[in-house]
Amino acid sequence: MTRMTVEQLRQDLPMTGEIAYFQTGTYGPASDSVLQAVRETLETEARHGPATTAGRLAHRDGEAAARSGLARMLNVKEEELSIDTNTSRAMQQIVRGLSWQPGDEFVMTSLEHVSTYGLSYSLTEEHGVTVKVIEAERLTDEELLAELAGALTDRTRLICLSHVASPNGRLLPVKEAAAIAHAAGVPVMLDLAQSVGTMPVDLQELDCDFAVGSGHKWLLGPMGTGYIFVAEHQLSGFRPNFIPDRSPWTLAGDPTPPPTARSRTEIGTYNHALVVGLGRAVEILESIGLDNIRTRIADLTRRLRRGVEQIDRARIITPLEPEKSAGITSVMFDGFAKTDMDGLAARLQDRHQALVKSQWLTAPPDPVKIAMRISVAAFNDEGEVDRLLEGIDEEL
Ligand SMILES: Cc1ncc(COP(=O)(O)O)c(C=O)c1O
Repeated sequence: MTRMTVEQLRQDLPMTGEIAYFQTGTYGPASDSVLQAVRETLETEARHGPATTAGRLAHRDGEAAARSGLARMLNVKEEELSIDTNTSRAMQQIVRGLSWQPGDEFVMTSLEHVSTYGLSYSLTEEHGVTVKVIEAERLTDEELLAELAGALTDRTRLICLSHVASPNGRLLPVKEAAAIAHAAGVPVMLDLAQSVGTMPVDLQELDCDFAVGSGHKWLLGPMGTGYIFVAEHQLSGFRPNFIPDRSPWTLAGDPTPPPTARSRTEIGTYNHALVVGLGRAVEILESIGLDNIRTRIADLTRRLRRGVEQIDRARIITPLEPEKSAGITSVMFDGFAKTDMDGLAARLQDRHQALVKSQWLTAPPDPVKIAMRISVAAFNDEGEVDRLLEGIDEEL
């Protein structure tokens, strides 16, 4: 495909004419090109019959391109990657695929997504697992790594870390954490929901064992798409909680399918059209270039933060160093509770056509630990950043 520019991507997103959209960290908009790929696949399947040769051809090449494109983007082998519906479900597939014993330990940070908290509670309830939460907000990277090292024991089964933290946008030192974990023989799972699509992410370099992410956020893919990475060295020992539908009679009595991430985690029929759409989304981001995307986001973020710093009651809680964040900037306002933030976000949407998120900072929620989460994507522009800043200024 020919190279695409950020301006062309913007034109491919009709929504940009209507709203300054700063919610990509929740749901990214799918472009017209992505929708077209989805629509064409669905229509061809329906017109010819999905199981006919023509129906199968409707998705064959697009789906293959999606799988290879995603593997290339993450710098992993295709056999290590499978498609799922979202980060939360993908994470359950991994975590519930490990055999937990009472007294085993699961280590995470306080900055993990609420779905990770939910999963950790269920590990305790169902298996008697001890969950250790590292209180990352008050720690520097060095302190966090030291606490992590101190938390590991011979009962630690898994460490779960966000690459970029959902509440405050902090880029966590995941590569260094993986080195510490591996020195202690502990595998690492990364939550990539807020990083992939905002910058180059090389999973080989980060050296994690498992990773999960969403297609419907920064990848700008269709809603209800996600992916799972299982590193090759983990595949043979990875016995999924659900057994995918590979014919057991071909497997000589072993119900565990052959060791590829796909054969071990994809269960039954899935929506081919959405996978094709995800492939198109990946192709678009690759054609713009993830380095270019990162630079563009950093430029817009600098402008945003400069503006926020002029606002009296506002305090940015995302690390200010450009290499310590990605697309998210979270801002707290003095004296604001959840209802105040909800009201401000609603007025920004209604009166200024600027969409941000009123974001809990803790799980379980503390009503005064609330931030405005602003997701700056490559398709945003300077005018939109300025509109948001003016809106905040007027509405405070
Ligand atoms: C870090 C992180 N993990 C997981 C999720 C959940 O994503 P999904 O709704 O795609 O499962 C989010 C959503 O915002 C997130 O930010």
